[in-house]
Amino acid sequence: MPLVTSKEMFKKAYEGGYAIGAFNVNNMEIIQAITEAAKEENAPLILQVSAGARKYAKHIYLMKLIEAAEADTGLPIVVHLDHGEDFEICKACIDGGFTSVMIDGSKYDFEENIRLTKQVVDYAHERGVVVEGELGRLAGIEDNINVSDKDAAFTDPDQVEEFVARTGVDSLAIAIGTSHGAYKFKGEPKLRFDILEEIQKRLPGFPIVLHGASSVMPEYVEMINKYGGNMPGAKGVPEDMLRKAASMAVCKINIDSDLRLGMTAAIRKHFAEHPEHFDPRQYLGPARETIKEIVRHKLVHVLGCAGKA
Ligand code: G3H
Ligand code: 13P
Ligand code: ZN
Repeated sequence: MPLVTSKEMFKKAYEGGYAIGAFNVNNMEIIQAITEAAKEENAPLILQVSAGARKYAKHIYLMKLIEAAEADTGLPIVVHLDHGEDFEICKACIDGGFTSVMIDGSKYDFEENIRLTKQVVDYAHERGVVVEGELGRLAGIEDNINVSDKDAAFTDPDQVEEFVARTGVDSLAIAIGTSHGAYKFKGEPKLRFDILEEIQKRLPGFPIVLHGASSVMPEYVEMINKYGGNMPGAKGVPEDMLRKAASMAVCKINIDSDLRLGMTAAIRKHFAEHPEHFDPRQYLGPARETIKEIVRHKLVHVLGCAGKA
């Protein structure tokens, strides 16, 4: 099966009350771990690439690795640009074979966000590529952009219909209390399901995207701390909240930090137990296995998309 767009995936996910996992990829081991887990669970998959990942690994290397993963597994795989910040990067990814792009105009005012998003949609749709837009601002860190809690803003349900109608986007990322990174909540985790419900009412059948959706799985934070790391207070989105979002209009759930934590935990543990090792395969192998386990857990127990490929 060639690389696909998310159109059909989201339709089935919406109707079936589950979500597709969108996992960030940066290198071969991460791509292999995610796609092997999806293959074993027969799950549809979105592999997403940030500007930082593209800079780190180069577009062509990631594209070829994802094509290899698709050929190896035969799974329906979407290759998606995560948080495209301008028209140029979206165009480069569309021209370079991505099947989906996000244009993140959330830092602009409403009119400028619409103008930029529509410019990307016009270019993408002519070439059979789908587009995710964003309304509202998540707190947290992406690349070197750090949005403080006071600059974050929940999505305003009064704006969503106009935004979708005027831009023509295929899916919409919203802010309901999640944030990027490993420190999402100072106190008790809380998501604004009332806002999600209102948005679902205004846009019936329309796929919604949840960013910042890692659970910051406690076992991996504990492992990192046990083997010399220092991450006090790391906290993520509880799994039951993600399952609830997936049963509503949320069709795409973005996960990166959990994979980073698992990979780091496995490597720290490996070196604590085998300080004499220096062959990268000795520590990247267990790191890949750990990511695979995490992805399987998400597909089966959190997203509900196992068996839906
Ligand atoms: O939302 C951001 C993703 O976790 C990607 O992070 O920009 O550091 O690659 P990155
Ligand atoms: P996490 O940092 O919670 O994994 O979020 C990832 C994300 O939203 C990528 O766009
Ligand atoms: Zn994000």
